[in-house]
Amino acid sequence: MTKDSYILGIETSCDETAASVVKNGTEIISNVVASQITSQKRFGGVVPEIASRHHVEQITLVIEEALANAELKPEELDAVAVTEGPGLVGALLIGVNAAKAFAFASGLPIIGVHHIAGHIYANQLMQPMEFPLLALIVSGGHTELVIMEGHGSFKLVGETRDDAAGEAYDKVARVLGLPYPGGPQIDKLAAESDGQVVFPRAWLEPGSYDFSFSGLKSSVINYKHNLAQKGEDVNPFHVAAGFQASVVEVLTTKALRAAKEFGVKQVIAAGGVAANKGLRASLEETFKTQDIPFYVPPIALCTDNAAMIAAAGSAMFIDGIRGNLAMNGKPGMPLVSWKQ
Ligand code: KG4
Ligand code: ZN
Repeated sequence: MTKDSYILGIETSCDETAASVVKNGTEIISNVVASQITSQKRFGGVVPEIASRHHVEQITLVIEEALANAELKPEELDAVAVTEGPGLVGALLIGVNAAKAFAFASGLPIIGVHHIAGHIYANQLMQPMEFPLLALIVSGGHTELVIMEGHGSFKLVGETRDDAAGEAYDKVARVLGLPYPGGPQIDKLAAESDGQVVFPRAWLEPGSYDFSFSGLKSSVINYKHNLAQKGEDVNPFHVAAGFQASVVEVLTTKALRAAKEFGVKQVIAAGGVAANKGLRASLEETFKTQDIPFYVPPIALCTDNAAMIAAAGSAMFIDGIRGNLAMNGKPGMPLVSWKQ
């Protein structure tokens, strides 16, 4: 029997300061997330400088708490996995430097994890991955369809050409005067709505797996302006429901087409927007009727956390991937396979 592995994960790419210990890449031993939402809410979005300052204040406490909750000493760990990119450069640097200092002081290897690989591997904390697998990644910065033929192998089949799904949610929420982050607010209004405004669906050219959400966002803005010119107010429930219906239909339809074309054994959803109740219900229902296994992690593992970084880091650790102390934050890091 092989020895158990314990990986410390660290995540600071955006507005959550998080640390977590994961055993064997599949079992969460501790998971600490310090959110900045309350303070970023005042500005209606994430202010990079403020995000960095929060990370500096929180990072040591969060790592200490993750270790204390796991009842592990640094020398009992096998490696430190940290989000290397993409994200806000100042925010990434806090996590990367904390990870380097921790790894150096404890004599541990350091592993740089791609944030999206982390979102995907959140699923591995729930059930084993089966390949080939289709991952629908929907977050504040990404909207992608990725095929995985095995661990560490990522083939991008579609992505957004403009706004990410979460970005569109946040912008539309702002148009409706809802607080940041807008996704959960729109989700709630949509669920309570008794009707919907019909907005267009951005299918793009036939056969394309790409996405576009900026036209939809403009439609919502135009709709509001047109009503304002007539002296009327929008019904935020109907707008939220109509906007969400458009996003959900396009994401579900393209994910289903890709799942069939690539003959996948499993479909998984990942990222902050995968917390959306309307999207979860639509994907669950669609893949159930098609007899294709579909999984989405619980909401706390869809939004940013460090357990997902430790999970992806564990898979990289098993494959012998190691970083070094020259590691830097990579704001525009591409999702590259670590194994073919
Ligand atoms: O993955 P995540 O926590 O951070 C990034 O990597 O970007 O995603 C954050 C995004 C935000 O745009 C937020 O509005 C959205 O996820 N989000 C949601 C919901 N919960 C979070 N969008 C729609 N419905 C939700 N319930
Ligand atoms: Zn994320």
